[in-house]
Amino acid sequence: MGALSIPEGRRRLKQEAGGGEVKVTAPEMSRLEVQAMPVFRAGANQAPEWCELEQFDLVELQVGQTHVFPRCGQREKLIVCRGRCRVACDRQEVDAREGANLDLEAPFARFEVLVVHEPTTLIRMAGRWGAETGGSGIFGGAEVEDSRDVGDPVDYEKRTPFDNHYHDYDEYWIVFEGRGLAVSEGQAYEIGVGDCVATGMGFHHDLPRVHEPLRGVYFETTLEGRKRLGHLWNHTHGEAQPKAERV
Ligand SMILES: [Fe+2]
Repeated sequence: MGALSIPEGRRRLKQEAGGGEVKVTAPEMSRLEVQAMPVFRAGANQAPEWCELEQFDLVELQVGQTHVFPRCGQREKLIVCRGRCRVACDRQEVDAREGANLDLEAPFARFEVLVVHEPTTLIRMAGRWGAETGGSGIFGGAEVEDSRDVGDPVDYEKRTPFDNHYHDYDEYWIVFEGRGLAVSEGQAYEIGVGDCVATGMGFHHDLPRVHEPLRGVYFETTLEGRKRLGHLWNHTHGEAQPKAERV
């Protein structure tokens, strides 16, 4: 496992000393523990070894700037989170707007931002995922009055309609706006801009609290097992069988 940095500015709920564990003491979250893993930050050698997403970069560009993403992964994906820019990839040039989702095909190709038309936020992901993956794109979360949802039942307070679910693949959430509380494999993680939550196949994950309207990129990597797509719930799809080593 590479060196791991604890995100600066990650707000932890009141910490409890002892055993190296950090516990949430707010009454409504008393059953959850807040920990630093498997949340990792941008750059090389940050992701746990089991992660197919080996590295990501979060880049903000202003009009007039250009940017080259040196090739660092067997596979690479670029998502435009905000703004508009012109990107060169695989001998093509693409006018890319919010939501654009580009993959490199040629083994030595790289993403290069040639022109920034509007202030732009980009997330570049690099790694070793297979040819058959789930979805990827932008998601958002906010708290609502009525937070009932279709997910598996939880024993912590929920203030969002996000459903507690699992998958037949690993999934990554990279936050580029806002702050919230994520739950993955039964642990709670305070997350903010620049944090990536890695959830291994078969582990449940959830976003029960959003402190500031949150937006992020999600990426569902190689399909495994029964290769079912979408959100899976114990009550409908059968008991989850998590890959224990992927935490
Ligand atoms: Fe998910």
